[in-house]
Amino acid sequence: MGVMSVLIPKEGVDAAPMRLTEFGLETQLHALDWRVERNDKLLDCSHLRPARDPDAGIIKQPRYVAAVNQVLAEEVRAHCAKGELSLTVGGDHSLAIGSISGSIAVYGEDLCVVWVDAHADINTPETTESGNLHGCPVAFLLGLTRGQVPGFDWVEPILRKERLVYIGLRDVDAGEKRILREQGIRAFSMHEVDKYGIGRVVEMALDHVNPQRNLPIHLSFDVDALDPSVAPSTGTPVRGGLTFREGHYICEAIAETGQLVAMDLVEVNPALGDAEALEQTVKVGCSLVRCALGETLL
Ligand code: ARG
Ligand code: MN
Ligand code: MN
Ligand code: MN
Repeated sequence: MGVMSVLIPKEGVDAAPMRLTEFGLETQLHALDWRVERNDKLLDCSHLRPARDPDAGIIKQPRYVAAVNQVLAEEVRAHCAKGELSLTVGGDHSLAIGSISGSIAVYGEDLCVVWVDAHADINTPETTESGNLHGCPVAFLLGLTRGQVPGFDWVEPILRKERLVYIGLRDVDAGEKRILREQGIRAFSMHEVDKYGIGRVVEMALDHVNPQRNLPIHLSFDVDALDPSVAPSTGTPVRGGLTFREGHYICEAIAETGQLVAMDLVEVNPALGDAEALEQTVKVGCSLVRCALGETLL
């Protein structure tokens, strides 16, 4: 199999990338015949932290998050440009601003984003109630925020809403629901997973963004899409999530398309929960990545 690069931003949920690596993610990928080139440029982001980074409205740490994402975007772009599959291990979901900016710089308007999450992460600076940028990345990528947050003027909002699909939603803010409705963005919540089963949901999701299955796919996987009983060590757990198998099925089905060009695995937080919860979460994170990168059950 081809080459993969692992990018590891430290921001937010600091210790997760190291934990996944310690747990053997790289070795596991070698066993699947990937050549792994690790990119540690963002393992320590502290040098990017500006001396002064006052809140922008209620948005916290705008310049720091922007600076980390700008570096990440260039690293992902460079790996994708070499034809490598780029895996970004987070870190919180704000890093998708950078990772998707990087992949879309190479693949352009063809790039499909499959966003697996309990949350829509599509708040704008106007709608966010928390001020946390991990709740806003999609709004940046679609250009719903342009020019409003200091540091982010480099973001080219070229993701098309027709090329975005969600799976697993169940905790969507009122303002986000309005945006999803107004923009006509396709989303499969847990209600649809219950109703149709994960097999049909993934098929319908891919039919929407990638009907011929010939376009490049960026999979952005937030572990909180999984039920907290499956992935407990995460910052914003929501009950009623994907089962272990449903989460893996999504990754397997995307692997089967042969079109995966980039993946994010985000929101594993080693500071939350006991040692057992952490091991369980790290293990499931590693196995999701393996499935997306071609591991099969038989
Ligand atoms: N909607 C909430 C917010 O905007 C929660 C977002 C959670 N996002 C995440 N990547 N865990 O703050
Ligand atoms: Mn977070
Ligand atoms: Mn998220
Ligand atoms: Mn989430």
